Amino acid sequence: MIGSGYVGLVSGACFADYGHSVTCVDTDAGKIAALKDGKIPIYEPGLEELVRRNAAEQRLAFTTALEDAVSNAEVVFIAVGTPSRRGDGHADLTYVYDAARQIADALDGYTVVVTKSTVPVGTGDAVERIMREARPDGKFAVVSNPEFLREGAAINDFKHPDRIVIGTDDLKAQDVMAAVYRPLYINKSPFVMTSRRTAELIKYASNAFLAVKITFINEMADLCERTGADVQDVALGMGLDRRIGEKFLHAGPGYGGSCFPKDTRALVKTAEDYDAPSRIVETVVAVNDHRKRAMGRKVMAACGGNVRGKVIALLGLTFKPNTDDMREAPSLAIVQALQDAGASVRAYDPKGMEQAGRFLSDVEFCSDAYDCVAGADAMVIVTEWEQFRALDMQRIMALMKEPRIADLRNIYDRREMKDLGFSYTGIGKGEGNGSA
Ligand code: UGA
Repeated sequence: MIGSGYVGLVSGACFADYGHSVTCVDTDAGKIAALKDGKIPIYEPGLEELVRRNAAEQRLAFTTALEDAVSNAEVVFIAVGTPSRRGDGHADLTYVYDAARQIADALDGYTVVVTKSTVPVGTGDAVERIMREARPDGKFAVVSNPEFLREGAAINDFKHPDRIVIGTDDLKAQDVMAAVYRPLYINKSPFVMTSRRTAELIKYASNAFLAVKITFINEMADLCERTGADVQDVALGMGLDRRIGEKFLHAGPGYGGSCFPKDTRALVKTAEDYDAPSRIVETVVAVNDHRKRAMGRKVMAACGGNVRGKVIALLGLTFKPNTDDMREAPSLAIVQALQDAGASVRAYDPKGMEQAGRFLSDVEFCSDAYDCVAGADAMVIVTEWEQFRALDMQRIMALMKEPRIADLRNIYDRREMKDLGFSYTGIGKGEGNGSA
């Protein structure tokens, strides 16, 4: 497994758990040393235990020595990062191509090389070309096998996938991939066997479609606010239509994370390159960026339009719960907007404060939700961590300077909060009077 980031580490540990012998490779010697010690560089529920157990049972090893790992392997996964290229939004494939060259040099016997990293359509062809140039004699096949796991639910998603997509025309490689995924095959997980280019595009199309769905319901939320409707009921009423489906219809402060923002941008670029522009995804990217900035203004409006000198308490900083990942989190834009407008920001996040410290300055990090709201003029729920769902609201009210809640994830009931005496602003919660 080349690359021991989110996807590489989770996939490697899960494959090992199925009984395969897995070596995770990374160029970061510090990370490999920590992993050998059983220390996981990211927060992902269940991962530490899974890694430790499989390492102890000798199915999972860690190394910086790519050559040894590859020469002994029947299957090599490329699971390195494909960040947004600075300036233009294309996926940066430097790490993928570097890995391809090094794998080619180390090949020994027939090897199936699998791109698990999210890569633009046509990357598998380029990987094959690079490897063939380096090793004209090499016996290998290049397969696309995109990963669909979510942060925070990664192990369950890997072990119970909605589908496994395998892209190759090479029959021998298909057999090898079937053997790798045999435990899931036996469990009747659906397999999509297709061409390499199709597999690559399935990944981007899936992430882009989910981003469209979120952005659509976010726009409906804005409309609900102006028309007196309730977006949660709109989502429920829509989602019960099985052609639409209930998932990914939670209105919020805009999508963030390490995947949707970069993958939507990369798809837009690929579509431009092939002269088949994706206007829908272009618009979604712009609308979502705008929304994250607009959330700061929403909080200000909830505070009567001016936050200068006010203390704002943010609950949750990570882009979603059960992760410490701060990449492209809506909280970043919200904090920026509030600070620019003269507010003091206090924040608490159960797992994300260390990461957040790298992205944010002048934020006072607190020890828990109650500490965070003490003396605050507003409490803003940015990330829907479970522990924020049943806070002692009487205690919160007693601690706050002003009893004011901006609930950007709709985890509280507006009427209940109003009955308790809070001023409450949710997302897509119109007042129900129907007036325009
Ligand atoms: C996403 C996809 O869901 C995975 O299938 C995919 O494998 C992954 O990207 C990837 O390409 O690696 P992830 O970024 O971990 O997974 O998180 P999601 O649960 O999809 O959430 C993404 C963002 O959308 C979060 O900011 C979340 O708050 C937001 N979201 C999600 C909403 O605002 N509303 C929703 O209804 C759902």
